[in-house]
Amino acid sequence: MTRHFLADDDLDVQEQESILDLAARLKAERHLIQPLAGPQAVAIIFDKPTLRTQLSFTTGVAELGGYPMVVDGNLAQIGTRESVADVARVVGRQVGAIVWRTHGQERIEEMAAHVDVPVVNALTDDYHPCQLLADLLTVREHLGGTRGRSLTYVGDGGNNMAHSYLLAGTLAGMHVRIGTPSSHQPAADVVRRAEAIAEEQGGSVLVTDDPIEAVAGAHAVATDTWVSMGMEEDKAGRTGEASPFARYSLTRELLSHAADEAIALHCLPAYRGLEIEAEVIDGPRSVVWDEAENRLHVQKAVLAFLLGAMP
Ligand code: NVA
Repeated sequence: MTRHFLADDDLDVQEQESILDLAARLKAERHLIQPLAGPQAVAIIFDKPTLRTQLSFTTGVAELGGYPMVVDGNLAQIGTRESVADVARVVGRQVGAIVWRTHGQERIEEMAAHVDVPVVNALTDDYHPCQLLADLLTVREHLGGTRGRSLTYVGDGGNNMAHSYLLAGTLAGMHVRIGTPSSHQPAADVVRRAEAIAEEQGGSVLVTDDPIEAVAGAHAVATDTWVSMGMEEDKAGRTGEASPFARYSLTRELLSHAADEAIALHCLPAYRGLEIEAEVIDGPRSVVWDEAENRLHVQKAVLAFLLGAMP
């Protein structure tokens, strides 16, 4: 059966762990495996802006021996010019895998339902699972592991990153805490799924509107833009004087409530002075450049896993 990676919990605990293990090996030896040798093409489709994702997937596919074929969503107009299902039937016959950054989760699910090659979520409105694998690899590198550590996310609790922290963090055995205003809660079904995973894995889930409670003693503290792609019309309300997120800005003051050696994470792009203070992202606790690099290594490992090519 074709495996896809559409949401963080499409992997089980062992699968997530072995993907992170392989990513660490690939970081040390970038051309260790070549499952796309031939080369086979991978379609990498963007319906939203990108920098890191385009870089890391094109580099990664090339290093795996394949041919990265970037498709501009503005030209393809998937779902407008022709249906997602028809696009899937055409693309799926030509490539070894499909990577898609798009809007609604239902679009990528429909794509996956109509192809027999792996489909990878490169960010939807609901999840950003590749980013979370990069974050977890970074946590492993800096904290020596994930199990039993606490991971806090402060900011827009209703966005893709918050959802992915809940699911991937609990799968990795972490205590995941979300500090967000009551007006921007994570989706209830995601919280329920994360709680169920946490119960099995010995972690926990806390969603609170108190930023200090969320950060207190945390080993890793993450944030993300207050204006996710697709929310631009709301920018003034989200970033202006009355921003509901102002109390959740990752400042030195807020970070001082975390554990002494806590690391600071941000998936980028970052807006200094809004969701994160310049002194935090550019300071000694910041691991964001490792986090950005790790996208490359984890995505290569995910592709190898989905293609049935784990070494
Ligand atoms: N929540 C952000 C993540 C950017 C990588 C967005 O969706 O724009």
